[in-house]
Amino acid sequence: MKFMKAIGINKSNSKNKLTIITTEIPTISETQILVKVSYAGINRADILQRNGMYPPPPGESEILGLEFSGEIVEMGDKVDLWNLGDYVCGIVAGGSYAEYVKIEANHLIKVPENLTLTEAGVIPEAFITAYQSLIHIANIAANEIVLIHAGASGVGAAAIQMAKSIGAIVIITASKEKHEFCYNLGADLCIDYKNQAFDEVLLSKFPKGVNIVLDLIGASHFQKNLNVLSRDGKMVMLGFLGGVNISEANIAAIIAKRLKIEGSTLRNRNNEYKSALVKGFSNQFLNDSKFPFKPNLDIIFPWANTDQAHEYMVQNKNKGKIAIEIKA
Ligand SMILES: NC(=O)c1ccc[n+]([C@@H]2O[C@H](COP(=O)([O-])OP(=O)(O)OC[C@H]3O[C@@H](n4cnc5c(N)ncnc54)[C@H](OP(=O)(O)O)[C@@H]3O)[C@@H](O)[C@H]2O)c1
Repeated sequence: MKFMKAIGINKSNSKNKLTIITTEIPTISETQILVKVSYAGINRADILQRNGMYPPPPGESEILGLEFSGEIVEMGDKVDLWNLGDYVCGIVAGGSYAEYVKIEANHLIKVPENLTLTEAGVIPEAFITAYQSLIHIANIAANEIVLIHAGASGVGAAAIQMAKSIGAIVIITASKEKHEFCYNLGADLCIDYKNQAFDEVLLSKFPKGVNIVLDLIGASHFQKNLNVLSRDGKMVMLGFLGGVNISEANIAAIIAKRLKIEGSTLRNRNNEYKSALVKGFSNQFLNDSKFPFKPNLDIIFPWANTDQAHEYMVQNKNKGKIAIEIKA
């Protein structure tokens, strides 16, 4: 049995403090790869899991962490796509806050030649989620208008760039101090949702409303989202940072405007679904091995300070992504 260092949760502590633990190195199946992790990206889901609210799907690692970059150190017998020593990044259902992580071979992405290993560690979750939402689910087209909430979040910052690359018109909501960041990513209109009714501002400038809403906020934005969607509009719901309970809503617009509302997840999808997303994203955006977007890396913490990395996110300080450096 071989051992590694990983980040564990000290549940005897009321704040679920994070601590470095020793645990077994994962064993791989014949279709899997073992990666020595260099950097892991931080996601909101990690904070929910840490606080006991988002357990990993059955059979997946209990260790936190949904994305990483690093080097291939072991390959299953049936893997022929990769070589030992390749630098890769990818999404997993758990386990990347550790020295080693296992992953299905066809969920990996080669580190694009124009990105550092640090930057590569924070692109998979945000960009695959943006791809899944905008392209796979909403089938976004050039000249469509899309409203992206939490525009400066990891997912939002990826989605702004992806939507613009397709030729869409992009409106975002975010705190005022994050607007410049979003305009620099290509947003056409930024709305300060804290001080303005975003539906009123949006409809005053785009009276026909929007074709697509990418919603990470949930309850607090639900009615306004219905207000701004145009006929046959689509809303993809991915998160509920603004709550899950709605005391009152007028849902007539869902029928009158023939709206489509779809919720989605990435983490608990099966291997085939994730492989198809990774392949679709790579084929569409990584054809020449170059990453065509800004990776949006905001800040890096040493992994001994992952508590601080989580706190930075909880306080909504990040513009784009947060990484931890995994170094035993
Ligand atoms: N379903 C899926 O497959 C999937 C995949 C990835 C992420 N997600 C979800 O997507 C959301 C964003 O994730 P992330 O990691 O990209 O987030 P993030 O980088 O932590 O950014 C979240 C941002 O949302 C804004 N925000 C926070 N609370 C808010 C509220 N009550 N109302 C409005 N805005 C609020 C804040 O920016 P401002 O300063 O602008 O308010 C905050 O910085 C999370 O809920 C996450 O769980 C879902």
